Amino acid sequence: MTLRTPDTPRTLDDHALARLVDDLVDRGWFVGEHFIDAVLCQALRHELEGLVATEGLTEGGIGRGGQHRLRRDIRGDAIHWLDRESQAQRHYLALMADLQQQINRALFLGLFEFEAHFAHYPPGAFYKTHLDSFRGRANRIVSTVLYLNPDWPVDGGGEMAIYASDDERRELARVLPEAGTFVCFLSDRVPHAVLPTHHPRASIAGWFRRNASMEGLVDPAH
Ligand code: OGA
Ligand code: MN
Repeated sequence: MTLRTPDTPRTLDDHALARLVDDLVDRGWFVGEHFIDAVLCQALRHELEGLVATEGLTEGGIGRGGQHRLRRDIRGDAIHWLDRESQAQRHYLALMADLQQQINRALFLGLFEFEAHFAHYPPGAFYKTHLDSFRGRANRIVSTVLYLNPDWPVDGGGEMAIYASDDERRELARVLPEAGTFVCFLSDRVPHAVLPTHHPRASIAGWFRRNASMEGLVDPAH
């Protein structure tokens, strides 16, 4: 049995990686189309569709540990944490480990681990403007989102909106959740939102973290 399919790259493209690092330094966020291979995206999407069909998802909440709450008026997705169950997941996690190493080498961020979940937004769902971590209490350092929707229509809604760090009403970019597109940004610096989607929307949201107990701040398990 071979674990490697010859047509799916095991590493990230060097040019795209260089641009990602530059964009993180210059403005705190990066968007790359065709960043992740189409065959891998398709396998991940099929896995997520299987989870939707077998009710293997739980509703996404806000806050961590004892602060965790369901707020459908803020966040409307359903999630499943990556658990290395499939070849596709292991492949994606290997790429993220590669990315972690590259970011650490270039930016000395001391990224230590990666956590990620599948996310499924049914029609009508959204995620209001938020930061992924709070300054000073940040153990989520760099956020990632990979989209899994082939041929997303331009009028399909569900874009990710990126806002200025000093004024979250000022929109800087709107990203279609097209398969292969990858977004990466500083978790405590970049306000962002998912605009209401008109179609089922599939993605993987992930976070590079620093050691959970850094500076005595213990991060409770999710
Ligand atoms: C998140 C998030 C953005 C997206 O899950 O925290 O902001 O485009 N996701 O799915
Ligand atoms: Mn977010």
